[in-house]
Amino acid sequence: MADTTGGIEAFYLENRSFSPPDSVKSDAWITGSEEYEQAERDWQGYWARQAGDLLDWSKEWETILEWDRPFAKWFVGGELNVSFNCVDRHVASGLGGRVAYHWVGEPGDTRTITYADLLADVERFANVLKGYGVGKGDRVAIYMPMIPELPVAMLACTRIGAVHSVVFGGFSSDALRDRINDAEAKVLVTADGGYRKGKANLLKPAVDLALAACPSITDVVVARRVGHAPSGSEERTVDMTDGRDHWWDSAMESVEASCPPEAMGSEDLLYLLYTSGTTAKPKGIMHTTGGYLTQVAFTHKYVFDLHAERDVYWCAADIGWVTGHSYIVYGPLANGATSVLYEGAPDHPDKDRWWQIVEDYKVSILYCAPTAIRACMKWGTSYPESHDLSSLRILGSVGEPINPEAWIWYQTTIGGGRCPVVDTWWQTETGAIMISPLPGATTTKPGSATFPLPGISAQVVDESGSPVSVGGGYLTIDRPWPSMLRGIYKDPERYQETYWSRFEGRYFAGDGAKLDDDGYFWLLGRVDDVMNVSGHRVSTTEVESALVDHQSVAEAAVVGASDPVTGQAIVAFVTLKSAFTPDQDHGEALRSFVADRIGKFGRPKTIIFTDDLPKTRSGKIMRRLLRDVAEGRDLGDTTTLADPGVVEEIRARASVSPTEE
Ligand code: PRX
Repeated sequence: MADTTGGIEAFYLENRSFSPPDSVKSDAWITGSEEYEQAERDWQGYWARQAGDLLDWSKEWETILEWDRPFAKWFVGGELNVSFNCVDRHVASGLGGRVAYHWVGEPGDTRTITYADLLADVERFANVLKGYGVGKGDRVAIYMPMIPELPVAMLACTRIGAVHSVVFGGFSSDALRDRINDAEAKVLVTADGGYRKGKANLLKPAVDLALAACPSITDVVVARRVGHAPSGSEERTVDMTDGRDHWWDSAMESVEASCPPEAMGSEDLLYLLYTSGTTAKPKGIMHTTGGYLTQVAFTHKYVFDLHAERDVYWCAADIGWVTGHSYIVYGPLANGATSVLYEGAPDHPDKDRWWQIVEDYKVSILYCAPTAIRACMKWGTSYPESHDLSSLRILGSVGEPINPEAWIWYQTTIGGGRCPVVDTWWQTETGAIMISPLPGATTTKPGSATFPLPGISAQVVDESGSPVSVGGGYLTIDRPWPSMLRGIYKDPERYQETYWSRFEGRYFAGDGAKLDDDGYFWLLGRVDDVMNVSGHRVSTTEVESALVDHQSVAEAAVVGASDPVTGQAIVAFVTLKSAFTPDQDHGEALRSFVADRIGKFGRPKTIIFTDDLPKTRSGKIMRRLLRDVAEGRDLGDTTTLADPGVVEEIRARASVSPTEE
């Protein structure tokens, strides 16, 4: 993906000295090399300075870092409250009237939420949670569409020291159930549904299904979004279970308006976020309070050159993923930014929806995934060109490698050639941006995430763990950073094993990367069994185990095949038990079975039926070969196959399999 071809190389050479106009230079500026040098001289001191400058602490820390590899504790002894830092302090300094969120619903309805509004809602909702017995350390599951109640619920948890676990609204009821049970959540916050691509997507039926097997949940709060009347009255109804389920609006009316923030220890658990790994069981990634908030505030301010008093910032991710946690909720709010929050799809009602929003709200910073950029490229330039995008100043990219063509299209067609593009590499586990240009200070190359940020120490290493200075290898990080995961919930061994065991003394990110002659980092995608579909992480094993749970499936192997729009697409090779017929209808049935298990985003795009799977003599499925078949490439050496004939058969099947439109 990151290869530079003739035209791009020429573009890069022309733009090598690309320097932003003065309009992006400012006091918030961190001036390149000096900052990096300072951070290198005393990296712990550097982070401590950021923690002190960017956040308000109710008690100062005693120790910057305690590092007992792989377990880190940052700002030990310090106390702070996240909701206070994100909301109260801005209101107290006279910014209560500043807009926190310009919310845009997909059908076109809008809401404006100021910092004062946010504070009022957060305090009340914190009291609602307290009313259900939620206290410090208790887990609260949140399963919601992109509506303002979602950040309110998260902040309310942080106000009273409860730990939230947001489950993306696109997950199925099974996935929700497993996450609730792993976290042993006490309360679930949800909504009747949300709008997506012109349809009301109902959430409550999935909730009811999940909760049939979630013994820890005592109370459920349901926000109204898709206009259903309460149970018993007219029209469509939402089933509410007496004593367990409560409407958001009535719950908010019946509590006190004020709720003081709890002082939390810097290392108290802030949230859990489940992410796919290389096994079927999702991992509960743990993030804590002081270090996390420090690094998300720092990166949000400097990577986007934020001027909170005049910028309108829009991160077009979903809060259900880490990008939304760090760069829709915590980073922007800690910095007192004004954000756009959009509920729906980029192509509804038409393919210019995003550009209409940029124009309407004069968005100056846009942050999105390469998949969205490539989809817009495919739709054509007429959509962005019919809107005034002159407010844009900085463009961000996240979630997947951005190919140079998409980078250039973004920079020229959307950014009018004047906006720096910041390609930001990071992960659910890193909590915040790790590798990225600093706009204006870093000379960019289309398709490269450039350099680790000040304070971050990342290296590309070879098989034996030795750093390479030029060329490809594995991306690793060799010292702790404030927003790093503190572990996997209830599974410290898996934490050590997954991230810290492959290379001695190094965190291994699961990504391949290469360094070019100038020392620039180029991300090359995952080297483990994790797929990246539209910037969403999906584990091959998770999809495989969903498939083999179906009564008809004898064996399944799943691979991520490159896809021109979504980066990768899920392709499943399936062997059926003899009583079942491999046909189009059965393929559809399996696809929807996986959607029920994981969520629609996890279902295979293509299913290829085969009588056998290519295996090595030791019985290991040859995924590389399957990937080659799926991508229609030459097969290369197949001599280690148990039965080389299988490949030919798979290849023949590949051309007649059911494929999603
Ligand atoms: O493979 C990398 C890719 O996304 C993975 C992390 O996925 P997730 O935890 O869901 O977080 C996504 C949002 C931060 C990484 O291991 N990735 C993320 N950003 C980039 C990227 N790949 C290339 N370039 C990026 N900028």
